[in-house]
Amino acid sequence: MLILHTVRETQEYVISAKNEGKSVGFVPTMGFFHEGHLSLMRRARSENDIVVVSIFVNPTQFGPGEDFEQYPRDMSRDVRMAENVGVDVIFNPSVEEMYPAGYSSYVDIKHVTERWEGEFRPGHFKGVATVVLKLFNIVPAHRAYFGCKDYQQLKVVERMVRDLNIPIDIVPMPTVREDDGLAMSSRNTYLTQEERKAALILCRSLNYAKDLLEQGVRDGDELRRQIEQFIRTEPLAQLDYVGVADPETLEPLRVITTNAVVLLAVRIGRTRLIDNMMLSVT
Ligand code: PAJ
Repeated sequence: MLILHTVRETQEYVISAKNEGKSVGFVPTMGFFHEGHLSLMRRARSENDIVVVSIFVNPTQFGPGEDFEQYPRDMSRDVRMAENVGVDVIFNPSVEEMYPAGYSSYVDIKHVTERWEGEFRPGHFKGVATVVLKLFNIVPAHRAYFGCKDYQQLKVVERMVRDLNIPIDIVPMPTVREDDGLAMSSRNTYLTQEERKAALILCRSLNYAKDLLEQGVRDGDELRRQIEQFIRTEPLAQLDYVGVADPETLEPLRVITTNAVVLLAVRIGRTRLIDNMMLSVT
């Protein structure tokens, strides 16, 4: 496995692989791998001749007072895990390599970025879209793999690829969970033992939403209120938002007629966790 730190070497590697007729799969990450990341790499491995993974904790997507500095990092563990999955190249640039002095360009996507995470983390999706577009230019892959765990991020990336005519297929991947249902996340390492138990309120409230839909609840506001009440039963949980939204536009749904996505952000102590679930009327 190759570990590259510069834009130039990485671009040259990928372009020459493509010139040799090889297909390239790309998995952008911020590292500190768990099974969620590995599931993306395995899928990329099964569908492409070459698999490139980026590890870059992107400062532009963290707001002031957020966890950029504390974000967990363990390069040697990540390298071992990626190697075991059969990754060909890790691209691990420095902040200066990605944002050299004088850096001035940002991607600003409207509408789909405005609610939910966009409202609670102003500027977050501008940072995400910017770094993902840069990464797509550095690693001009055939396919890129994104987890549904970060559902709004997935929709933002899909929108950007469509709007800006980026020749890359976005492959969405299901959320990988711990045995008890907690969605895997690098941020789960922040949780104390007590908080780890309390964090189950996220997936439990999503299962509760599914039950309510099965019981015939179709009103979006009603469903949202019931989920909010359920989350408030957990004393360690501080709710940022619950959204019952159209799965494409992410606008709140008045009535659920076909599909809806339930989006959650909850703070457990100092740790902010997100989760979501797709609901379908059958
Ligand atoms: P990161 O949080 O490291 O996640 C990298 C990829 O792994 C994302 O596509 C994310 O949705 C996916 N992922 C995370 N947890 C998952 C889980 N439990 N199951 C399935 N997939 C999961 O998302 C980012 O990094 C960054 O914002 C990035 C896109 C790299 C831009 O900086």
